[in-house]
Amino acid sequence: MLILGIESSCDETAVAVVRSGKEVLSNKIASQIDVHAVFGGVVPEVASREHLRAIRPIFDQCMKEADVSINEIDAISVSQGPGLIGALLVGVSFAKGLAVAQAKPLVPIDHVHAHIHGALLGVEDQNIFPTLALVVSGGHTNLYFMEDPTTFKILASSIDDACGECFDKVGKLLGLGYPGGPQIEALASKGQRGLVQMPTMVEQKNRMEFSYSGLKTHMANLLRRKDKAPIEDICAAFQEEALGQILRKLKVAVKQNPRAKSILVAGGVAANGRFRELTETLQLPVHFPSLKYCSDNAAMIAGMAYHRINKQGLESFRTTEWDSYSRYDFEAVL
Ligand code: KG4
Ligand code: ZN
Repeated sequence: MLILGIESSCDETAVAVVRSGKEVLSNKIASQIDVHAVFGGVVPEVASREHLRAIRPIFDQCMKEADVSINEIDAISVSQGPGLIGALLVGVSFAKGLAVAQAKPLVPIDHVHAHIHGALLGVEDQNIFPTLALVVSGGHTNLYFMEDPTTFKILASSIDDACGECFDKVGKLLGLGYPGGPQIEALASKGQRGLVQMPTMVEQKNRMEFSYSGLKTHMANLLRRKDKAPIEDICAAFQEEALGQILRKLKVAVKQNPRAKSILVAGGVAANGRFRELTETLQLPVHFPSLKYCSDNAAMIAGMAYHRINKQGLESFRTTEWDSYSRYDFEAVL
């Protein structure tokens, strides 16, 4: 089964063709990072306009690289939300237009859940489910228990900032460009971890939430001091706590969910090398996406669509009568 994926929830316009949820025939991404970098973060209106400019050429390039025609596509899938509403609407409108014109089924996909399918794309191991699945991105820090590829039970999420957001905001405080994550990691790799003290966030073992705003405030105060440590040591200590917090919660989750056979880690922060190192101490096999499927992409959208179609059948995706959503309506969605 050939599925077209479309992604436009934030600052990447992406289109992919994936065969049967595994084989990625083409995965095209137009990143807007350079456009937003001068503003120090993503400007929603600018993002929407850039998506409008990029979506058609990226679609054409993707179909060419995959070497398939639209007639051969069995279903179209698209990020429905959460994300920037103007940005989402570009991808969703394009996908709806294509689905109606070509009489193809259209599968709306939750962007955050799809990140986990980025981790599943390259995994051959069949012994994954039930799994503990973690999404650590610029907008979300969510831990789920997944019985199968389409069932998500939320175990923990951030009560304030997301982990990637904290990396970005601290990057800004440090005078680094956007996004802060990769640059903080690069500096941290040259520093010593134990030299600068950091607060331990959400220390209580029985509390499963994540929290990042206190760490961000601590960094803002620390950076105001005249006699501060070298930036590399500050970054190393910050990164250790930002990621260490997730490790602590994962360890608790492993204990509390003895049926889990594996751990999937996804989202932009999953690209962090130190994070990958830290998870080696966990008791279960941990699967990370390959780097190209960590940050926003459309292969993960098409990958997840395959599993939804497997569960519900193609015919249940014949309608385009649904809306994008910017944020979760937790009661309706989860
Ligand atoms: O998943 P993603 O591309 O976009 C969202 O859906 O949010 O994640 C982007 C986030 C940014 O906050 C970025 O700073 C962070 O992922 N990130 C990293 C690294 N690479 C990207 N954070 C820490 N270390 C990295 N190497
Ligand atoms: Zn994302």
